[in-house]
Parts: sequence; structure tokens; C-alpha cells
Amino acid sequence: MCSINISLLILAAAGISVMATAGTTAASSRFDYADALSKSILFFEGQRSGRLPPSQRMTWRKSSALRDGFDVHRDLVGGYYDAGDNVKFNFPMAFTTTMLSWSVIEFGQLMGPELQHALEAIRWGTDYLLKATRVPDSVVGAVGDPNADHNCWQRPEDMDTPRTSYVVNKQKPGSEVSAEIAAALAASSMVFRHSDRAYAALLLRRAMQVFEFADKYRGSYNDSIAAGVCPFYCDFNGYMDELIWGASWLYKATKAPSYWNYVKNNINYLDITEFGWDAKHAGINILVSQWVMKDPHNSNPFVPKADQFICSILPESPAPKSVSYSRGGLLFKPGGSNLQHATSISFLLLVYGRYMKLANKVVDCGNNVHVTPARIVSFTRGQVDYILGSNPLGMSYMVGFGQKFPKNVHHRGSVLPSVAKHPQHIDCHVGYSYFNGHDPNQNVLTGAIVGGPAEDDTFKDSRFDAPQSEPTTYINAPFVGVLAFFKPLHH
Ligand SMILES: *[C@@H]1O[C@H](CO)[C@@H](O)[C@H](O)[C@H]1NC(C)=O
Repeated sequence: MCSINISLLILAAAGISVMATAGTTAASSRFDYADALSKSILFFEGQRSGRLPPSQRMTWRKSSALRDGFDVHRDLVGGYYDAGDNVKFNFPMAFTTTMLSWSVIEFGQLMGPELQHALEAIRWGTDYLLKATRVPDSVVGAVGDPNADHNCWQRPEDMDTPRTSYVVNKQKPGSEVSAEIAAALAASSMVFRHSDRAYAALLLRRAMQVFEFADKYRGSYNDSIAAGVCPFYCDFNGYMDELIWGASWLYKATKAPSYWNYVKNNINYLDITEFGWDAKHAGINILVSQWVMKDPHNSNPFVPKADQFICSILPESPAPKSVSYSRGGLLFKPGGSNLQHATSISFLLLVYGRYMKLANKVVDCGNNVHVTPARIVSFTRGQVDYILGSNPLGMSYMVGFGQKFPKNVHHRGSVLPSVAKHPQHIDCHVGYSYFNGHDPNQNVLTGAIVGGPAEDDTFKDSRFDAPQSEPTTYINAPFVGVLAFFKPLHH
């Protein structure tokens, strides 16, 4: 990722939110959500690091980074590049894997033939996360010197920048990255429970070990391996949320009371509105709501906080908002890569709407505004349709979907010619001639959702504008679940 986490920057909340009313933009456009789902998963093949299998469908990508881990005498081959660069940042990678797993847990039954591809995408992450946690009391937090990487415009297949491994341990802890990996392993163990019991058991055992390490040796990887992760994926908001998130997933996967007690004993750390690779708060309140919603003695404070979260999003709610809206109707939070918020908030809303429906619940936002599960679906569909092309520019923000989509994505592999076409090595700085040139990207990174438009609904489609044109794995991961939900709606 190019930009640092900007949630800290205080940006003036721009303008007054105006929702597009039905009819102002391409009204009643019908999108092929099944096609979008299929592409949203295919994208992950473009982000693969390591030795690519014969089943690789995005064939312009080839094997890369086959000696990762060599410097610390470990096998760290595999995993995902986070965005348009070639670094393996394990903190957002683990979050991506958690969200892909949650997508399958909630909506996998609706995925049809795409379920298999979703499982492959998760396994590409978990196989690597198992490698990153193979040595007890030690967790690999990132691979690849991020500054050297960012100073080159190079295909992953050509990389010759230092592939430094950054490792946290008892003396130099990293509770956020370790606890997020524990969450990913616990969530994915639920995904594989039916199809591969042995693998699921391995994931769960490892999740418990890694969580214990994360909790027992507390500290931020900021301080332990800053050179490998800051400022790109510094843990800005602390590691307590990851510890509670990890415990919540472990409780969901094991039903062991110790994890539930851990969650309850630490609830005062929980905030309400934030959710993303750095902050897990809103996700915890919603995840936990599933098992407390029907029990009034248990429901505090998770359900009220989840309700508050819902009321902080819906435009008609009188509650203070945690998002603003463009005239075209897209939700915004300060900082770049805005679509990460649109996709992850949409996911949380749909999940909560599902739990509400099962519990016969409606959210009361005050002033006679009652949010029903059906309203959550219609609101979320507005966000999804905006992303897929129902917006003032008539532009799909998913590469390769629809007629008009970003052609100048900020992504090294996509910009440069494939090794299949251009086998000669492209040096670090030579690649910038492609970056700076006027030609569109050489390879279509199908399914990638980019950072997205500016708050006035304009979009530059420029490689120079990374906040708008760079894809990331954690924009796509929650959208996989969202698209699965809407898939049956297209006929
Ligand atoms: C990590 O570093 C960032 C940037 O310096 C800082 O804002 C944040 O508070 C740090 N987080 C922790 C948990 O120390």
C-alpha cells in the first residue's frame, strides 16, 4: 500500500451528505452479481506470491519470491502481496484471510461453484500463515524490505530487492499481528471443518497457540519490527482490539468458556464505529452479537454497540454519523482507499441484518427511525451497485467488470508486461518508463476493486493517484461475502 493509514489525519468532514434518490443515477440497473463474485475471487490469484500451481487462472502472473524466508532459515514461500507492491505484510494479509473466511462462513452456501475458488483463496493465505507461525513463540510479521520495494517499479517475478523477514518473538513481541493471525486461523478452521477435518484441526490448534503467544507477550510490532511495517501498516490504534477479536473467533470456533470470558473481561476497550485492517471494534460487536442477541442478560454491551454502529451509518438515522455520503450516494470515511470502508461496512451490515432477522429484531435509531433487515439490504445494495457502475460516471470500480472500468491501476504486475510476453528482466528503475507512460496497464487484474472515487464522485484513473487507483486484498475480501449475498438476486 502506498499511503499510510490516514484514519489518524484529521480531515474536515466534507460537505453535507446527500443521498442519491432512486432515479438520479442509472436507475434500476441490474448487475450480474454472480460474475462480479467470480471476478472478486479471481483477483486474489493476481496477488499470489510463491510457486503458482497449474490451476492458476490469472496466467499472466508467474511464480515469484521463491526464496522468501531464506534469511531466517525458514520456508516463507507463498501468501499474498497486499496491494500494488510486492511486500507480504502479514497483518493486513491475516485480516484479509479472516474476512474471506467470515464471507464463506456467512454466505458460502450462496456461492455455488465459486465456493471452491473461495476456499482456494483462503487456503493460499492459511498455508502461508501456518508457515509464518511454525516456530513456537515466534511469528513472522512481514517479508520484503518495504522501502526498497517501494523504490522500485518491478514485477514480482523479477524482484531483486532485499526479501528481509521481520519476526516478532518473546523479547520483541507483536500482539496485533499475532492475534490477527490467530483470528484468521480460527475463522478458517471453521471454513475447512467439513471438507478437510485434519487441516481444520491443524489451523485451530495453531490459532490457540498463536493467541496465547500474542496475549502472554504483549507489545506492538510497531516497536519490534518498525522497519518492516511502518509507516505502511503501523498498528495505529493499538493491539487490544486484535486480542479481543482473536478471542472472539476462538470462542466461535471452540465454544471454550475461557475465550468468552476473555472477551467479556476486556469489553471496556471496545469502541463502536471503526472497522478495517487496523481496527476491529465494530466487527467484534457484530460477531459477538450473534450469540448474545437472544439473551438479554448477555447482550450488554455488544448488541447496543452494534446497534449504535448501524445507526451511525444509515443516512436516515438521526444519530451522529461515522461516515459521510457523496452526492452519488457512496459512503466515505477520511483517508485514501475509501472503498475498503464501503465493502467492509456493507459486509458488517449484511451480517448484522442476518442476525437481526433470525432474532426478529429491528434497530431503533431514535426519532421513529427503525432499521429493518430489509432496509439494511436495500442500503447495502446501493453501495454495491455504486461500486459496480451505478454512479455519476457510470464507471465500474472493479477491474474487468462491465464496459467502463479502471485501466491504469496502481499495481506493479498489472502495469508491466507479463514475463510470458517479455521474459527479459526489467530492472528496478526501468519499470518506471511503463508507470510514467501513457499506455494503459499491460495486464488486466481482473476483479480488483480499486481505492475508488473522490468524495465528489470523480475518478482520475491514474497510476499516480494511488489512493484512488490502487487495489488491496482487504477491499476485496469482505466484498466476496457481500456479492455472494446478492448473487441470487440477479436473474
Ligand atoms: C504505532 O505507531 C504509530 C505511528 O508512530 C502510532 O501512531 C501508534 O500509536 C503506535 N501504536 C502502538 C500500539 O504503539
